[in-house]
Amino acid sequence: MTTRYQDVLEQLRNKPATWLVTGCAGFIGSNLVETLLLLDQQVVGLDNFATGYRHNLDEIKAAVSEEQWARFTFHEGDIRDAQTCEAVMQGVDHVLHQAALGSVPRSLADPQTTNEVNITGFLNMLVAAKQAQPKPASFVYAASSSTYGDHEALPKVEDQIGRPLSPYAVTKYVNELYADVFARSYDLGSVGLRYFNVFGKRQDPEGAYAAVIPKWIAAMIRNEPVIINGDGQTSRDFCFIENVVQANILAALAQPDGVNQVYNVACNARTSLEDLFGHLAGSLSRQGIKYEQAPTYADFRPGDVRHSQADIGKAQELLGYEPLHDIVEGLEVAMPWYTQFLR
Ligand SMILES: NC(=O)c1ccc[n+]([C@@H]2O[C@H](COP(=O)([O-])OP(=O)(O)OC[C@H]3O[C@@H](n4cnc5c(N)ncnc54)[C@H](O)[C@@H]3O)[C@@H](O)[C@H]2O)c1
Repeated sequence: MTTRYQDVLEQLRNKPATWLVTGCAGFIGSNLVETLLLLDQQVVGLDNFATGYRHNLDEIKAAVSEEQWARFTFHEGDIRDAQTCEAVMQGVDHVLHQAALGSVPRSLADPQTTNEVNITGFLNMLVAAKQAQPKPASFVYAASSSTYGDHEALPKVEDQIGRPLSPYAVTKYVNELYADVFARSYDLGSVGLRYFNVFGKRQDPEGAYAAVIPKWIAAMIRNEPVIINGDGQTSRDFCFIENVVQANILAALAQPDGVNQVYNVACNARTSLEDLFGHLAGSLSRQGIKYEQAPTYADFRPGDVRHSQADIGKAQELLGYEPLHDIVEGLEVAMPWYTQFLR
């Protein structure tokens, strides 16, 4: 018996579609574009390189055939500009909206820019989709587990959320509210995917706002200290990028009862920061890199939630989502990229 994902991939290979991926030069966006091109889809990409890189686009080019690369059209532009959003929306079947400013600490340092990109930019994308003739068949957007805020129950279930703990979390929740209102007011169907700590190739290891996995891998490869914020027991449902790609493709091709919903996207597992440190050291040592320092401990980071674990039952039931890699398997696949990129 084939899975829903295998069926959907087959359907796309037989009848290729045109996709718009915003944030295509970033971590998640570039992985989406690569997979879609490998499936012989037509892809339009939009990015302003705020946190993404041209070298991510070069990597996609190297990973696909010349013929597949010719099916990719890149627009350098900003989602804060409504006309740009309208222009890239023309003739698109499926929208995968990833462009945003991520990072809780960045949003605490500069809430206004985070608001402009993540809320005004998002609204521009919704308006462009509503106005396009014809409207895209689907509009999938990157929501966030940060929307659970201070709600303590575990695992996290989609309809039970708390108060946001950061400006970033506010913006991602507002995305869901706008998507819901556009569904009811303008019949624009959408699907929100609440990602939980995604990791994998092309996730930026550099800069003050780097995510924990690439930041620690970079430190370990360079034999620098690894700093754990808090007591090491803070936990996350780390989700490998290929699971996120699967969720996006399934969401774009969702059956009618799966549309106008938000879904958790992770593995329904929980890994403490101390255990993560151990997994990374183990995975690196299998790549021939020994890291023998103990981690050092610093204060908890403001705005961070203590524990996070996703109930993925809703995505399993309505989208047919089945994560194919747990954290250890995902790290094993991703590590050669990091060791090559960072050395
Ligand atoms: N990585 C995670 O763990 C995670 C978790 C939850 C949600 N998300 C969401 O997933 C999406 C993708 O995140 P990512 O990890 O790939 O981050 P990323 O920073 O690597 O990618 C974001 C991309 O959007 C682009 N961008 C930013 N502002 C833009 C603008 N104004 N106009 C056009 N492009 C713009 C950036 O240049 C970058 O290429 C974001 O919406 C993020 O909030 C990510």
